[in-house]
Amino acid sequence: MARTEFLIWILVITLCQLQDAQTQTLSSIGVNWGAQASQPMEPSVVVNMLKENGIKKVKLFDADSWTVSAFKGTDIELMVGIPNDQLKKLSKSKDDAEDWVKDNVTKHLKHGDVNIRYVSVGNEAFLKSYNGSYIHITFPAMQRIQSAIEKAGHADQIKVTTALNADVYESSSEKPSDGDFRKDIYSVMKQIVQFLDEKNSPFVVNIYPFLSLYQSRDFPKEFAFFDSTNSQIDDDGAHYSNMFDANLDTLVASLKKIGHPNVSIVIGEIGWPTDGDINANIQYAKKFYRGFFKKMATKKGSPRHPKSVTVYLFGLFDENLKSIAPGNFERHWGIFRYDGKAKFQVDFSGKGEDKYPISAKGVRYQENKWCVLKKDVKNITSLGGAMSYACAGGDCTSLGYGCTCNEVLDGSGNASYAFNQYFQINDQSVEACDFDGVADIVSKDPSKGTCRFPVAIYSSGNMLKVMHKVGGFFIIFSLIFTLFM
Ligand SMILES: *[C@@H]1O[C@H](CO)[C@@H](O)[C@H](O)[C@H]1NC(C)=O
Ligand SMILES: *[C@@H]1O[C@H](CO)[C@@H](O)[C@H](O)[C@H]1NC(C)=O
Ligand SMILES: *[C@@H]1O[C@H](CO)[C@@H](O)[C@H](O)[C@H]1NC(C)=O
Ligand SMILES: *[C@@H]1O[C@H](CO)[C@@H](O)[C@H](O)[C@H]1NC(C)=O
Ligand SMILES: *[C@@H]1O[C@H](CO)[C@@H](O)[C@H](O)[C@H]1NC(C)=O
Repeated sequence: MARTEFLIWILVITLCQLQDAQTQTLSSIGVNWGAQASQPMEPSVVVNMLKENGIKKVKLFDADSWTVSAFKGTDIELMVGIPNDQLKKLSKSKDDAEDWVKDNVTKHLKHGDVNIRYVSVGNEAFLKSYNGSYIHITFPAMQRIQSAIEKAGHADQIKVTTALNADVYESSSEKPSDGDFRKDIYSVMKQIVQFLDEKNSPFVVNIYPFLSLYQSRDFPKEFAFFDSTNSQIDDDGAHYSNMFDANLDTLVASLKKIGHPNVSIVIGEIGWPTDGDINANIQYAKKFYRGFFKKMATKKGSPRHPKSVTVYLFGLFDENLKSIAPGNFERHWGIFRYDGKAKFQVDFSGKGEDKYPISAKGVRYQENKWCVLKKDVKNITSLGGAMSYACAGGDCTSLGYGCTCNEVLDGSGNASYAFNQYFQINDQSVEACDFDGVADIVSKDPSKGTCRFPVAIYSSGNMLKVMHKVGGFFIIFSLIFTLFM
């Protein structure tokens, strides 16, 4: 074979493989990309990774300009979010809502060619833990954003909705058909659902079988997964062998009862964490996703929602700054690690093949340095203070019972782990590895078995700090850049 022929042949094969990876991913699958991390991944690296994995839908929790711009020129559909702390302002002022749309939507459509399709106004705003703070402002904020989007001429392309937790509805029995919206928010839910129906926007709901298992010891474990055929609930001829279907049908019944059965449903979050709890591990996450994707591949929904639904997986990466008020698992929802490496085999095509998704490329790591307890420190009991300090500033959620570092480390290993987490979160600063003289920086990886001692990455966060320093220059540069585009 001639050399050029050979090269073309290689090229064709490569292109086919790329095509393959992309078309095989189920089109109904999207991902949530949250960035509550000490060193968030660089947007361009993430967007390339999404493309390589054939992911066509992404949900964000805010509308960070740099992140949204990274989707420029891709066909990836975006759902951007408005955080709860902005709802008050937006519910009150037409001008603020219009500014929000200009700044976070119009700009990207005009200059960026970004495929924004949804705005989620608020995130799980009616959670009981918020004590009702957002009950009266969420819907007015949705209306203001809707008006601003109409005024800007984007209403055909962009739908306004709000991502809700599944706790906005409940069933008076165990039967999904007895589902109805929560009493304390019934009237506002009626307004929201009517709005969604009128505007042809989806009802976005987050459903978490893991949390049901976490919250109730009696919850039948197999009901959280998808590979059992044992019916746990019989509801007038409908049989439920997994919690997801039962929960979805509780929503279907609730929508019917409130008079809007035709509102479409999108799953805003679903997934399984891999650390931070006895039931949060790779083995269960694999099992959950495998069963879920297999179900998705059949394109069948639930007994009372036979159409398949679009789902956004939660989530893309581990986020070490997430609040652990709900539980230590909160920082471990990623399908990928903090650095974009795939954690476990998951086949986005639903064929159940034992393959890893494609990890991020071009991630830049900080130096191969770790902060550990000095060898000559023997009295571990004296380290309590240093450890609590390290764990308050760093992330020690892998040390607890049933977690990846729990049985692997001894007392001094625990201290080293905590020190290193603090050190890495602080970008390996020498001052962050002191702890009254009991810690040392080493160049040999102290990881042990399942317990990994991470090395931080350089991130968009670090770069923002740099950009801040040269802020004036950067603004002028962007202005010139925008003018000439
Ligand atoms: C646009 O969104 C960003 C990120 O969520 C937010 O910080 C900013 O305030 C928004 N812009 C306006 C004008 O509201
Ligand atoms: C809700 O109320 C509880 C108890 O009164 C309080 O501890 C908590 O901080 C409140 N949460 C919010 C978000 O206001
Ligand atoms: C829902 O859609 C069906 C089929 O299009 C239609 O017949 C029905 O009237 C709709 N129901 C409501 C309440 O809009
Ligand atoms: C270890 O440290 C604790 C707390 O500082 C102290 O009470 C104890 O006497 C020390 N034990 C030894 C063997 O030095
Ligand atoms: C390490 O720390 C964890 C979490 O604080 C604790 O559960 C575990 O018992 C500790 N291990 C040892 C050997 O001290």
